[in-house]
Amino acid sequence: MAMTGSATEGSAQAESAAAAQFAIIPGAQVHAALRGREQEIVQVVEAAYRVHCAGDSVNPPSYFLRFPDRPSSRIIALPASIGGEVRVDGLKWISSFPDNVAAGIPRASAVLILNDHDTGYPFACLESSIISATRTAALAASAADWLTRGRRRPTRVGFVGVGLIARYIHTFLVETGWCFEDIAVHDLSVESAAGFRGYLERSGTSQVTVLDEPEQLIRSSDLVIFATTAGQPHVSDMTYFEHNPLVLHVSLRDIAPQIVLASTNIVDDVEHCLKANTSPHLAEQLTGNRDFVHGTLDDVIGGRVTPPADRPLVFSPFGLGVLDLAVGKYVYDDVVRSAELHVIDDFFHEMQRYG
Ligand SMILES: NC(=O)c1ccc[n+]([C@@H]2O[C@H](COP(=O)([O-])OP(=O)(O)OC[C@H]3O[C@@H](n4cnc5c(N)ncnc54)[C@H](O)[C@@H]3O)[C@@H](O)[C@H]2O)c1
Repeated sequence: MAMTGSATEGSAQAESAAAAQFAIIPGAQVHAALRGREQEIVQVVEAAYRVHCAGDSVNPPSYFLRFPDRPSSRIIALPASIGGEVRVDGLKWISSFPDNVAAGIPRASAVLILNDHDTGYPFACLESSIISATRTAALAASAADWLTRGRRRPTRVGFVGVGLIARYIHTFLVETGWCFEDIAVHDLSVESAAGFRGYLERSGTSQVTVLDEPEQLIRSSDLVIFATTAGQPHVSDMTYFEHNPLVLHVSLRDIAPQIVLASTNIVDDVEHCLKANTSPHLAEQLTGNRDFVHGTLDDVIGGRVTPPADRPLVFSPFGLGVLDLAVGKYVYDDVVRSAELHVIDDFFHEMQRYG
């Protein structure tokens, strides 16, 4: 019986592999599937994040491919597997080449491969810089929401580093109900600051202040968002934060470990976030312990941690591959429903074991 069962199972797998299709989903389709659905995407990302925190995922450490001849660049591999309703495996492969920006193309480029849960077959390759920015902004918006419940909502936001990620975070905040009286902007690049200001003005924001230094921005904002490409801390004066703002430390390496230690720290995932010389990782190296981490966003959502209001509140999200999978699968399902899936004929060729 066991043999029959296993043979049946084997032949079912062979059939499903034979039926395996491989599709390519370009950026325009990804964009169309996600545009205008920010509230729904926040729920998708939050649900996937909670599935991960409940243990129904595999999310090994990201692998950083670095190059001795191009030290500022890297390509990161994020393999992952998520259960729950998404139930898919896959890999995000994302490059960061900061010099691209001066050459007029975005810093980050990425693909996401989705693998079938039962056969392991890759069934789609999606343009993924949009998916990556979307899942990052969605989790940031979720964190901003959960970390301000029961408090006065920030109305003065400051963005330090204003590239694609800052734009997506702003869009997600606005589309999930945030209103800002004033938006402060600081970027080392005059062109980036001007570009972001232009985006804000086109999206209906009139109160935009561009600042040359982060100090005034941080002091005047009750929500501070870091989305730079800084490789090491460049903000180290604790007094900038004495009004106890909420800090979304999305770029992870901007604030000195002393500021981390003087703040309430919430992370997405402790094991992931305390790696790769992030500011929380530097704080761990400085103290030799992790006592400064007050909990995860999941702890806050689950009511197990209530951050105190008498210190700066810093959210550091390392970024989890499972979230890319959830958004990628959402896009895939949407494109399938639209009947516009671009399948590559006969992508898998050697399907008979002995020819
Ligand atoms: N935590 C996550 O889940 C996650 C996910 C995606 C991206 N990120 C990070 O977000 C950051 C921003 O990504 P992006 O695609 O918007 O990059 P980008 O290159 O488009 O923009 C970054 C901007 O930061 C500015 N900048 C660099 N150093 C600065 C400094 N010290 N002070 C002020 N401005 C500075 C640059 O001039 C640039 O305009 C990157 O570090 C990226 O790794 C994090």
